[in-house]
Amino acid sequence: MRRLAFVSLLFVAAACRSGGASAKGAGTAAKIATPPEVTPAAVALGDSLFNNGGCMRCHGAKGVGAANGPVLADSQWDQLTTGSFEEIRAIIVSGVPKEKIKVTTRPNAMGPRGGRMNLNDAQITAVAAYVWTLSHK
Ligand code: HEC
Repeated sequence: MRRLAFVSLLFVAAACRSGGASAKGAGTAAKIATPPEVTPAAVALGDSLFNNGGCMRCHGAKGVGAANGPVLADSQWDQLTTGSFEEIRAIIVSGVPKEKIKVTTRPNAMGPRGGRMNLNDAQITAVAAYVWTLSHK
């Protein structure tokens, strides 16, 4: 837990620094630094949770998209705006209730914390790290 807090602090510090320095580059396709949570170990765990568990049911293997869920392996978003790590993590925690689904041919709500997967915080960070890599290749 202490380590996580420290890592988050570093992340915030890095975000502030780059925010200050890159005011001119806002809106351009500036190179996005890999968030500190996106470690090889987290991505490997996230991969196995995503592709063996409930996510691929709706999002397809490796996030290629399926009838019930959008493609995650591109940078076009229905719910998210920037596709930042924090945004991805937040939507996995909250899920998407039926009334908030944008493309209404998708009939099923995305449950909070992976629905019946009932992911813990470390697992959510791992799945978010994996999903981040899908859209930042
Ligand atoms: C029951 C089907 C279902 C499952 C299971 C599911 N999702 Fe989703 N997911 C959706 C739907 C529906 C949306 C919203 C699509 C829309 O608004 O049209 C969504 C949106 C998202 C988004 C935002 C995509 C965007 O385009 O903005 C992310 C990221 C995401 N899901 C990740 C996950 C992860 C990770 C898991 C597994 C922990 C998961 N989902 C499990 C159905 C599902």
